[in-house]
Amino acid sequence: MALVMMRRDYSGMTTAATYAEFAARETRGISPTYERLSVAVSSDDEVLALLGTLPPAKRQPNLLFGVVRLLGGPVENPAAFHDYAVANWPAIKEQMRTRGTQTNEAGRCAILLPVLAALPQPLALLDVGASAGLCLYPDRYTYRYSDHQIGAGDPVLDCAATGMAPPAGLPEVVWRAGLDLNPLDVTNPADLAWLDALIWPEHARRRARLRAAAALAAAEPPLLVRGDLVDDLPALAAQAPADATLVIFHTSVMYQIPAQRHEAFTKVVHRLPGHWISNEAPDVLTYDTLPTPPDGALRNVLALDGTPLAWTRSHGQAIIWFG
Ligand SMILES: C[S@@+](CC[C@H](N)C(=O)[O-])C[C@H]1O[C@@H](n2cnc3c(N)ncnc32)[C@H](O)[C@@H]1O
Repeated sequence: MALVMMRRDYSGMTTAATYAEFAARETRGISPTYERLSVAVSSDDEVLALLGTLPPAKRQPNLLFGVVRLLGGPVENPAAFHDYAVANWPAIKEQMRTRGTQTNEAGRCAILLPVLAALPQPLALLDVGASAGLCLYPDRYTYRYSDHQIGAGDPVLDCAATGMAPPAGLPEVVWRAGLDLNPLDVTNPADLAWLDALIWPEHARRRARLRAAAALAAAEPPLLVRGDLVDDLPALAAQAPADATLVIFHTSVMYQIPAQRHEAFTKVVHRLPGHWISNEAPDVLTYDTLPTPPDGALRNVLALDGTPLAWTRSHGQAIIWFG
């Protein structure tokens, strides 16, 4: 199956439309607070004008809302949010300019596990766009696919799975490395505060999961390398042990990559040994054919070596295997 990569078209969408779409496709049924807030921002001319002073890629809802939460501003009440955003715009703008959305969701390991468990073991994992590296511990988490549990202890990753048999067990991981333009350090309170601020307001379980996953990572820190996913990937991959299956993977990263770098990235990955797992939005990493999605919600596509396998929800909470 031929693979074509395209950039999510932020430039072609007005900021108002981006917020309206975020409300309808990403937050509906998942975060009423952010749904309410993004609907309000989508028709708030004053806040939209302020956002317009930032480059297009820096106007995203997740970045704005995360920064306001980091600064201690209100997100529950749209009117209070408006007043805070207008009064504190210089500080908000400065944070939005210098930060990126680096949400690191250990729950996405529940999406990766069915593929990882089926590969020849042991595994050498290389997470591209790793953030703090919390997706590098798929062998340490506990999984619950409906009522089927794999593993024991904290954190427990719940995933509603359709059309697949539960994975046979946990993978054996002998090497874990991450590549990121700005690796975060879970032992640094400031980095942990930013990761926490990026979690949506009502998501207390995700917040607890971040703490549990961060404690686990802090006890056995991964190799995290600062670098670009095209320029620096071969050198890091070359450090993987030769007697393990190299697995290069990325989840919710490609929407941040300029369109002209997509082809260069796939060329680099195809030249490397081992396997390639991607979990990305289908408007960013596109395929010739995909099954009809179950509804209008934003979903990622899980793929192995360029072959699409399943629809997934963005925080790893659901997977629908293709028939
Ligand atoms: C939304 S986060 C996802 C983090 C992690 N993959 C997960 O699913 O939890 C995207 C990450 O990609 C990183 N990133 C963006 N552009 C990159 C590039 N050119 N090279 C390496 N990392 C990049 C960002 O810094 C950020 O940490």
